[in-house]
Amino acid sequence: MTLPAAAFSPSSDFVTACYIVAFSLFIIGVRQGTHPTTARRGNLIAAGGMAIAVAITLSLDVIGNGVLILIGILIGALVGAVASRRVQMTQMPQMVALYNGVGGGAAALIAWAEFRHQLALGGDIPLDVMIPILFSAVIGSVSFWGSNIAFAKLQELISGRPIGFPGQHIVNAVLLAAILAGCVVLSANHDSSPSQGLFIAVLIAAAILGNLFVLPIGGADMPVVISLLNAFTGLAAAAAGFALDNVVLIVAGTLVGSSGTILTIAMSRAMNRSIGNLLFSGFGAVATGAAAGGEERPVTSIGAQDAAIKLAYADSVVFVPGYGMAVAQAQHAVKELANELEKHGVRVAFAIHPVAGRMPGHMNVLLAEADVPYEQLKEMDEINPEMPQTDVAVVIGANDVTNPAAKNDPSSPIAGMPIIEVNEAREVIVIKRSLSPGFAGIDNDLFYEPNTSMLFSDAKQAAADIAWEVQEL
Ligand code: TAP
Repeated sequence: MTLPAAAFSPSSDFVTACYIVAFSLFIIGVRQGTHPTTARRGNLIAAGGMAIAVAITLSLDVIGNGVLILIGILIGALVGAVASRRVQMTQMPQMVALYNGVGGGAAALIAWAEFRHQLALGGDIPLDVMIPILFSAVIGSVSFWGSNIAFAKLQELISGRPIGFPGQHIVNAVLLAAILAGCVVLSANHDSSPSQGLFIAVLIAAAILGNLFVLPIGGADMPVVISLLNAFTGLAAAAAGFALDNVVLIVAGTLVGSSGTILTIAMSRAMNRSIGNLLFSGFGAVATGAAAGGEERPVTSIGAQDAAIKLAYADSVVFVPGYGMAVAQAQHAVKELANELEKHGVRVAFAIHPVAGRMPGHMNVLLAEADVPYEQLKEMDEINPEMPQTDVAVVIGANDVTNPAAKNDPSSPIAGMPIIEVNEAREVIVIKRSLSPGFAGIDNDLFYEPNTSMLFSDAKQAAADIAWEVQEL
């Protein structure tokens, strides 16, 4: 069956129906992404929706330059496929930053192209088109440049420390005011060929603001910033959808905008920090206590054999993974150790802190990769009441998310952050390479508790050594 040419007009019912199918698949995909068992399928479903949206949009009778578009698609697909195969799990946050930036940049370019298109039509740009164009251009530009800085910090192309100068927040405020003033002037002249020079000046000011906004934020806070910029990109895309009168872009942009916002709020709540504190405090820059070379306190240090004895003769063991497990890629070795312990009749669980690691769901992804059954993964609120009945808690490359100072010391930088309460377990084994601090740069009192034993080693090596010792028992 061939469809009549009129079916491919942007306003035809056929196109609208296809777009509805596409964004329904986005919504189903996002919904399925909320659980590890369905997340992979959710991704495929949303990608299917995007394929439909792209195919229909490219078939519209208003689309020209087919060859140029095809070349762009081929280059983008090649770069994306190679990059996603090569990227390490620990590099995922910067990859997301890069992709998010590209989305924001695309929205800004679409806005600029639509502005030029409207000028070519005679320059009388209706306000309901002009405002979304400006919104998309400004937010998209901030997101593009901000995401590039986030990428450069995480990839260590530039220092991860806060970079700034005195009075930077004032400069940012002045820039923002200038951008708003430029947008007001452009909107006020919307019916008499608004100045293209002013439009470009607004784009450039937004680019500078994007750079200055992210440079003073500490590298380790980048996941939250990326999530916020992700929300910006979504809003910019939705605004571009309004300017182009494209329903699928409006829905997709709104979904990204709201998911990014929810994620940003969830992360900042899990760290018990306000969004303002995350964005403007230059957190993660200062080390304290032993971390800063302060007083040294004694710790109990053990080897793999002692750890194996403690674990094999326990009834219940809870593993608490953190960023170090990701760095060491120790998830498979830890799963092997868990298997050995289960053979000895030990009950094993894994405690997941919402911000363990460096990106949302970091530990879930790693443990799923190692085929740890979902029933063994326990959220923080579920595992904490069980801690007093737990024989041994094994902290693997985690630090801040187990630090009792969050509960006991109101002056601590992480005061109020909920933690996995391993200090309530009968015994604690902490596996890490040294007494160095984690992301927050602060000492951890847990290491010096009488029921804590430190096993100084790379996490993967330690898990393999302990598993071998357990086998020998
Ligand atoms: P951290 O507090 O960062 O501690 C990680 C520990 O892993 C370090 O102390 C390090 O000690 C150890 N380590 C590194 N490489 C290792 C290796 N090869 N083998 C064994 N240990 C190794 O990690 P966490 O407890 O997971 O806490 C996460 C932190 O990141 C929190 O402060 C959180 O607020 C922050 N954060 C998280 C997110 C998200 S969304 N997850 C976003 C932004 C910020 P050694 O050097 O002594 O080995």
